[in-house]
Amino acid sequence: MLNHPFHLRGKRVLVTGASSGIGRAVAIECARAGAAVIASGRDQTRLDATMARLEEGAHDSFAADLTDDAQLAALAAHCGHIDGVVHCAGVDGVTPVRMLRAAFLDRVFDANFMAPILLTQKLLYQKALRNGASILYVSSIAAHTGTVGVGPYSASKAALEGLMRCLALEVAPRSMRVNALAPGLVDTPLVNEDRAWLEEKAASYPMGIGRPEDVAYAAIYLLCDASRKVTGTTLHLDGGNAWT
Ligand SMILES: NC(=O)c1ccc[n+]([C@@H]2O[C@H](COP(=O)([O-])OP(=O)(O)OC[C@H]3O[C@@H](n4cnc5c(N)ncnc54)[C@H](OP(=O)(O)O)[C@@H]3O)[C@@H](O)[C@H]2O)c1
Repeated sequence: MLNHPFHLRGKRVLVTGASSGIGRAVAIECARAGAAVIASGRDQTRLDATMARLEEGAHDSFAADLTDDAQLAALAAHCGHIDGVVHCAGVDGVTPVRMLRAAFLDRVFDANFMAPILLTQKLLYQKALRNGASILYVSSIAAHTGTVGVGPYSASKAALEGLMRCLALEVAPRSMRVNALAPGLVDTPLVNEDRAWLEEKAASYPMGIGRPEDVAYAAIYLLCDASRKVTGTTLHLDGGNAWT
């Protein structure tokens, strides 16, 4: 029992978007699983609230806007050597194509695609990721489905998954793994402002919508050594939504 691989003891893990929602839960649960966590987000006050909830360990936090090149580079430099990264930071991006503007598309792609990919590039180039490290992107079921008005967001997540599969082959010789999580609706500030809308949407989830912890537990599996041969794949966490 003591030797099973379902833990993160001895691993150092960077979590972006750790100041809220899914990223906060990933940071908290990774710490509970034994990891030393580097928690990143834009807002230091919200990051401090996450830090206050981490089980004791060699954790630290680093505030950075990942759409800013200098701040992204500073975070990568801060990390030292790490065994895993969970790219949770992201924004929504809902507008019908007829109303779309280039600046809107840029905002969505900068946060949801460019930031996680350029951060990965920096971490790889600096050799911050140890051999055997796990790289994990938080995508969405929106990358696999069509929903009126959700085009920019869906496209940014589909792009992320496309690159994920190619990167998985590039880093495989170093025993590094690259995967994505595709949650359905999860009760976080990204989507829960309009409770009536959320409850209406929840009706299409046979098992109900997710909690941030549900995503965190899946992240732990893909970060830990139990999944050491799992790469280039997307784990769907949709409570049966795809089958309705
Ligand atoms: N909630 C859902 O239903 C759902 C479903 C599928 C996928 N997802 C994905 O899950 C991820 C987390 O979403 P969430 O629901 O937890 O949302 P959330 O509660 O709004 O949290 C978003 C996080 O991303 C950070 N962030 C946003 N833009 C950033 C930037 N430019 N630089 C650095 N950090 C930035 C925020 O930092 P600040 O706190 O500093 O603003 C915050 O920590 C996103 O990628 C989202 O697309 C969510």
